[in-house]
Amino acid sequence: MPELDIVSVRKSYRSPTGENLLALADFSLKIGGGRFVTVVGPSGCGKTTLLRMAAGLVPTDVGEIRLDGARLTGPSPKMSMVFQGIGLMPWKTVAGNVTLGIQLQAHRHKLADKELGLVNSTLELVGLKGFEHYYPHQLSGGMQQRVGLARALVRQPEILLMDEPFGALDAQTRAVLQDELLSLWGRVNSTVLFITHDLDEAIYLSDLVVIMSRRPGRIKQVLEVKLPQPRYRYDARAEPEFARLRSIAWQSIKEEL
Ligand SMILES: Nc1ncnc2c1ncn2[C@@H]1O[C@H](COP(=O)(O)OP(=O)(O)O)[C@@H](O)[C@H]1O
Ligand SMILES: [Mg+2]
Repeated sequence: MPELDIVSVRKSYRSPTGENLLALADFSLKIGGGRFVTVVGPSGCGKTTLLRMAAGLVPTDVGEIRLDGARLTGPSPKMSMVFQGIGLMPWKTVAGNVTLGIQLQAHRHKLADKELGLVNSTLELVGLKGFEHYYPHQLSGGMQQRVGLARALVRQPEILLMDEPFGALDAQTRAVLQDELLSLWGRVNSTVLFITHDLDEAIYLSDLVVIMSRRPGRIKQVLEVKLPQPRYRYDARAEPEFARLRSIAWQSIKEEL
């Protein structure tokens, strides 16, 4: 099982007016073991920054990211990321967008038969069989999000990084996709690092909920969610334990708003 170790990272940006803006301070977190870990925090607290550093897309100022004990210096084939706002290529079909996940990783245009088979099985996995030749604008928001998920899953990552993937969806579609994600997670055996600002989503999905402070983002509180998985098999949101955790988390987050 993979292990991603975020060790005392710190990150500043230069603001448009030239000031130094500390986005994230002394943030440490270890994830792995096939667990579902969610980081929740107020808007602007550094969640996207954290995930981009964890993915090796952005360097840390201080501290480091270790993947299976080795310092990460760039993106790794062991991890893939689902971006905030999906980012599908509008001129490519569903199949073309998912294929891109492999092409970018393999640095080549033409796919082997085995890889084409993988594209098909991944499309089936996310419920997009039959929509291969559709373009993104011909799909609902929920379906577009499934394409984004397929593009990440087709690389068969050990660690899946997700940045508010359901943020732009209506409540019903979001609930359906949350259940689909839990079901997928049960089948693909990946460790997940999930980002959201939605407390209910965080508690419903994860084994561990990490609550961040407002910027500069630090870990404020960590909650273990012991409700049995998979949570779509019963009405987990109606459990007293769910309400208890939600109340603790809300108290904690409220102070940061
Ligand atoms: N490329 C950048 N240049 C300057 N400031 C940035 C950049 N990216 C993010 N920031 C700032 O860093 C802070 C954290 O941003 P972000 O990580 O996107 O937060 P979140 O995802 O929690 O909303 C914000 O104040 C944001 O304006
Ligand atoms: Mg963000």
